[in-house]
Amino acid sequence: MAYNLLRGKRGIIFGALDENSIAWKTALKVKEEGGQFTLTNAPIAMRMGKIKELAAQCNAEIIPADATLEEDLKNLFTKSTEILGGKLDFVLHSIGMSPNVRKDKSYGDLNYDWFQKTLDISGISFHKVLQTAEKNDAMNEWGSIVALTYIAGQRSFPDYSDMAQAKAVLESIARSYGHRFGKLKKSTRQYHFAITDGYNRRRKAFPDSMFFFDYARMMSPLGNASAEDCANYIVLMFSDYSRMVTMQNLMHDGGFSTTGITEELVEKLKQ
Ligand SMILES: NC(=O)c1ccc[n+]([C@@H]2O[C@H](COP(=O)([O-])OP(=O)(O)OC[C@H]3O[C@@H](n4cnc5c(N)ncnc54)[C@H](O)[C@@H]3O)[C@@H](O)[C@H]2O)c1
Repeated sequence: MAYNLLRGKRGIIFGALDENSIAWKTALKVKEEGGQFTLTNAPIAMRMGKIKELAAQCNAEIIPADATLEEDLKNLFTKSTEILGGKLDFVLHSIGMSPNVRKDKSYGDLNYDWFQKTLDISGISFHKVLQTAEKNDAMNEWGSIVALTYIAGQRSFPDYSDMAQAKAVLESIARSYGHRFGKLKKSTRQYHFAITDGYNRRRKAFPDSMFFFDYARMMSPLGNASAEDCANYIVLMFSDYSRMVTMQNLMHDGGFSTTGITEELVEKLKQ
């Protein structure tokens, strides 16, 4: 059921690769709720992914941008405001990639050039997005910018490897830039940041992801949040009903992060 929560709002959605992407589900939900947006992803994802299918479904234009490149981001923000006919009300940063995880490097044998890439793509790119938005004066008052993080930015999850450091960087940027954006516009703007999502699907990228997935399900009273659930929460964060929420890590994890142990896990351990 749609509520028109985003009627008249304009934005940019980063990171829709295929129908499993959180950004893909979010784009469909934002459309359903009346929002208009441009879609963007790294140029290589244009060839590998299915973003054109999504663009057709949402009647949205695609503007390729490598989120680590300032000139690409400038072009993206400039073109998006032109195409959409005004400043933006929402931005979703749904980006993550670690060459070390992809190539199954152990945490004790990291390639440092790749580590830098992980930090740049998955963490620092958020600063680049925010700085570009500020320099281009691209956001409307009370706009909302959301990035997606994972609890491994705060607690150790061995398989998450150098992505944990990237998430810690991302979360810190959310606080620092959230403060700056709020003050810049004399508190008349709102920016929410950093949703910590539950483990919502099996990821090929992480070798033990089946275990992660099952463990997270057993540790969460409500079970694992799906990508659709996450999309719904992002829509709420883009809406006017969450105006005073900013600079936060919001837990969207079915209760995982505040659970000590569950009966289900105890039973499993007894086997
Ligand atoms: N899936 C989960 O269980 C889960 C849980 C918690 C947090 N998250 C976070 O949610 C976000 C989206 O993850 P997802 O599960 O939808 O995976 P996904 O692989 O579908 O999305 C990641 C996106 O990042 C894009 N990307 C990579 N390098 C880029 C670059 N240089 N410039 C621009 N885009 C680039 C990819 O093309 C891809 O579209 C990530 O930040 C991820 O860490 C996911």
